Amino acid sequence: MKTRVISITDPLKQEKEIMEAAQLIRSGEVVAFPTETVYGLGANALDSRAVGRIFEAKGRPGDNPLIIHIHDVSEWSRLAENIPKQAYLLADRFWPGPLTMILNKTRLVPMGVTAGLDTVGVRMPAHPVAIKLISLSRVPIAAPSANISGRPSPTLAQHVVEDMDGRIPLILDGGRTDIGVESTVLDLTGSVPLVLRPGGVTVEMLQSIVGQVRIHPNVMKPLREGQRVRSPGMKYTHYAPNAPVTLVRGNLHRQVTYINTEACKGEREGYRAGILATDQTISHYQTGIRLSMGDRRQPAELAGNLFLRLREFDGLNVDFILAEGVDEKGEGLAVMNRIARAAGFHIIDL
Ligand code: TXA
Ligand code: MG
Repeated sequence: MKTRVISITDPLKQEKEIMEAAQLIRSGEVVAFPTETVYGLGANALDSRAVGRIFEAKGRPGDNPLIIHIHDVSEWSRLAENIPKQAYLLADRFWPGPLTMILNKTRLVPMGVTAGLDTVGVRMPAHPVAIKLISLSRVPIAAPSANISGRPSPTLAQHVVEDMDGRIPLILDGGRTDIGVESTVLDLTGSVPLVLRPGGVTVEMLQSIVGQVRIHPNVMKPLREGQRVRSPGMKYTHYAPNAPVTLVRGNLHRQVTYINTEACKGEREGYRAGILATDQTISHYQTGIRLSMGDRRQPAELAGNLFLRLREFDGLNVDFILAEGVDEKGEGLAVMNRIARAAGFHIIDL
């Protein structure tokens, strides 16, 4: 299959191009499109066969459910039932935006989307191309991140090309995505809202609207063997560049010393180290390929650069990656969750 890439700089003036993508969605095809978080791989959420094609293109395990994207709040009453009052408050405050709410599903939602669960994830993205695509398609769009399963999520159309070329007919290129990590996944089916995946809508932001919020213990810890999961996505290795990653956290001074020592040791043995650093520390390293995620006092900036840097390391042929830990406040929790998972929870605490 030949994959075409169409650049959309002005969604209002390029309705014709987006209509082409919408028509592909309507005919049961899979199309990649930009959202404010990462690029998504979309198909008609109400068409089981189309949804099956997403799993095929990504190589995604069939038991990992997809998020449904809508362009208008009125649409969720077709997809979800017993919607709690908190969900309306959250939608009012954070939609369109990087928040996915897990709710009880209606019968309209095919089992293929929810991987057999009786709940469904719904979100309204805040990207003009995504909104236009969903409204022109006139169907809700199921979309995971547009990477091959296990790889870092795409924040540039070029990343989607790397992973999806020849697998899908069309990629809409809307430039670099703003937030850079995937949406916050919040389960609202229990008595207290539960964060299953931290993201651009931070725990602090959620608390300001609904008060008490719990964070699932597996956000920063691996699953125990045989443990049943609330979110199937927690089971799988994610976001991994080609080289193995180690997350180093704790006292910053000790982090830098440890990383310097390990990088030098590696180099002496003939292995090239990649160091995922920050603006504050990058000049303190003596060896290895050094990339900065940004200013550690600006967690949103770190989130915006994280996947980009992980993919950059692939092009630089490093043999192993040492990643600095950052503060888990605000978007920092999402950054640490993604690095911990990229590292397969291989974490050094100092
Ligand atoms: O920002 C995002 O959310 C991006 C863009 C494209 O919208 N999408 C995305 O989708 O990250 P995906 O498929 O890569 O991640 C969806 C996560 C998975 O961890 C999945 O297990 C969880 O959401 N999830 C989806 N439906 C669920 C459900 N009913 N119950 C629990 N977890 C669910
Ligand atoms: Mg993903």
